Amino acid sequence: MQDADLHETRHESPYLLINRAGRRAPMPVFPARNLWEPFAVPALPYREDSLAPVISAEAVALHYQEHYAKHVQNLNEQLRGSPYQYMQLEQILHNTRDEPAVSDLFSHAAQVWNHWFFWNSLRPGGGRPGGALAERIDADFGGFEDLRKELLRAALARFGSGWIWLVQEGGRLWVIKTIEADTPIVHGMRPLLTIDVWEHAYYLDYRHRRAEYTSALIDRLLNWKFAQKNFVA
Ligand SMILES: [Fe+2]
Repeated sequence: MQDADLHETRHESPYLLINRAGRRAPMPVFPARNLWEPFAVPALPYREDSLAPVISAEAVALHYQEHYAKHVQNLNEQLRGSPYQYMQLEQILHNTRDEPAVSDLFSHAAQVWNHWFFWNSLRPGGGRPGGALAERIDADFGGFEDLRKELLRAALARFGSGWIWLVQEGGRLWVIKTIEADTPIVHGMRPLLTIDVWEHAYYLDYRHRRAEYTSALIDRLLNWKFAQKNFVA
């Protein structure tokens, strides 16, 4: 399954997903809301200008304030009066993923989740994996350099818009890519990190040069402390 597109559907309830989490590394969960209130745009975990020069302040602002906020707004509009109105985000995703009539609602919900996870997958200065996660990367990929190549290869192979993920499933790590808004949490996988490879994520700074954007992001922005938190040793 390594580096595979996720076309097939695998049914798991959100409860199984949560139970799988274990005590040491709870499954990443979008910030809970008061269910009688609309979703708010989660705060960025850093200043908009702190990812520069890899991602400019202008590109972060456009991505966060326009693209991301619009998904939150659309999600709230489509939730109003729907059977999913009073659910947390993960429940909405699991309940709408196989419902063609609400595919737009699913896509906005998934983009809200994916972007929240993406903002947390970055940190100014980046870093390198350590501890048990580094050992697992060595065992599953042959080393960090090989994982880096795998992430880059996936980013370039992803035709059109989507996401690149480092996920944990079945006792090992995988690099996968998802199409458009699709998200690994509805496929029963535990995400550790993600890279947004929609054009809007890099076009302002890198034009069409997705490889340059992806390698800069891997080398200088990936938040391995966040990955470590999501990883189950
Ligand atoms: Fe994006």
